Amino acid sequence: MSDNNIPAKPWSGRFNEPTDAFVEAFTASVDFDRRLYRYDIQGSIAHATMLARAGILSAAERDEIISGLEAVCEQIEHGEFQWSVALEDVHMNIESALTQRIGNTGKKLHTGRSRNDQVATDIRLYMRDEIEIIRAEILRLQQALLDIAEREADTVMPGFTHLQTAQPVTFGHHMMAWFEMLQRDRERLADCNKRVNIMPLGAAALAGTTYPIDRHYTAELLGFERPAENSLDAVSDRDFAIEFSAAASLIMMHLSRFSEELVIWSSAQFGFIELSDSFCTGSSIMPQKKNPDVPELVRGKTGRIFGHLISLLTLMKGQPLAYNKDNQEDKEPLFDTIDNLKGCLKVFADMIPAIACRHDNMRHAAMQGFATATDLADYLVCKGTPFRDAHEVVGKAVAFCIEKDKDLSACTLAELQQFSSDIGQDVFEVLTLEGSVAARDHIGGTAPGQVRQAIVRARQSIASGE
Ligand code: ARG
Repeated sequence: MSDNNIPAKPWSGRFNEPTDAFVEAFTASVDFDRRLYRYDIQGSIAHATMLARAGILSAAERDEIISGLEAVCEQIEHGEFQWSVALEDVHMNIESALTQRIGNTGKKLHTGRSRNDQVATDIRLYMRDEIEIIRAEILRLQQALLDIAEREADTVMPGFTHLQTAQPVTFGHHMMAWFEMLQRDRERLADCNKRVNIMPLGAAALAGTTYPIDRHYTAELLGFERPAENSLDAVSDRDFAIEFSAAASLIMMHLSRFSEELVIWSSAQFGFIELSDSFCTGSSIMPQKKNPDVPELVRGKTGRIFGHLISLLTLMKGQPLAYNKDNQEDKEPLFDTIDNLKGCLKVFADMIPAIACRHDNMRHAAMQGFATATDLADYLVCKGTPFRDAHEVVGKAVAFCIEKDKDLSACTLAELQQFSSDIGQDVFEVLTLEGSVAARDHIGGTAPGQVRQAIVRARQSIASGE
């Protein structure tokens, strides 16, 4: 204990002067890294267990340390822990509290390790749990999409390229496109976790330790796949956090696009969907407004998550091996990414099931802009016209319809036959929206039957744990 009851810094031995007050606050990370406390304690318990098995601690010392750490954990959980900026970070706060509680045995916990391997281990344990939570939240959103896709497998809407009417598609098919993107996002996180789930502990400060430690045993206790191969690499690189941040950015890029569609679709001009009142807000001045704030905010939050990816990349760039204090700056971008990503996924998974489809508006919109023009060209090809000629013929027919202000399907047979004598009465089946979507009847196509099969396959792959 030093003056004012503040415990001495664990590294104070070689120092003659106290730390400058501002420097103390400037270099401390406890205000944000305290969220790692559970993982820090979990890692310490495994470390003490291994030390005892290797004969470095006695069984009695191990037990004292473990019950002391458990008591500290409980104190933190009940909000009764006094975090101290003078003790810099979560690791030294917990170790110091342990020693205050159990006395000298507490000072033996740090044998054969360093905060450098400790912090890298804590982050990995934390990320492993968060990745699982995020993957479950993506899955919940995917389930919501499957349910809507099933309900709306026959609902026709205009499909767009360049945001211009292209060809009719079904709303179910459109929802399944989002399902696929999220499936890749979920797979990417599982893959990232393979590299997260490697144990740095035992690397100590940078070179390993002189004690006869058993890293395989510690790894097993903590559920890691294996100990990291190289101690210098283990304490220094944060590529696993960058990789996660890149995966998070891709998820946000997808959610941002999805958000943009929800915003457009819920406008009065499109009117394809209505978001539930509970996910919208009003205007303080315009009484008629119902604003799609949730998708807008998700779209907006994409920026900070992309920004964190660049922060982390830049943080690592140019750092010499091994650990540098720069690495303390990995936490805030990572934590903010995780918090916001989870928030965005949660709000989406809650909001999507409550979307109401305005079938008439989608149908009406699909009738504008000659969505079945390609179908007419394909019809002519079936009758023996080469595709390029068919394209030209239909272009002329569309120009005629624009002048007469009507859809292709509203033309008489005689009007259509002006452009090609190959056109017969059966053309009108091809020009319906239902005919158009049903004709795209192959794997990956928009035909309602194909969409239903895609849903079945998706449900099977989810059930098999993919
Ligand atoms: N708070 C530090 C961090 O977040 C812990 C490791 C500190 N190690 C050191 N040698 N200063 O990276």
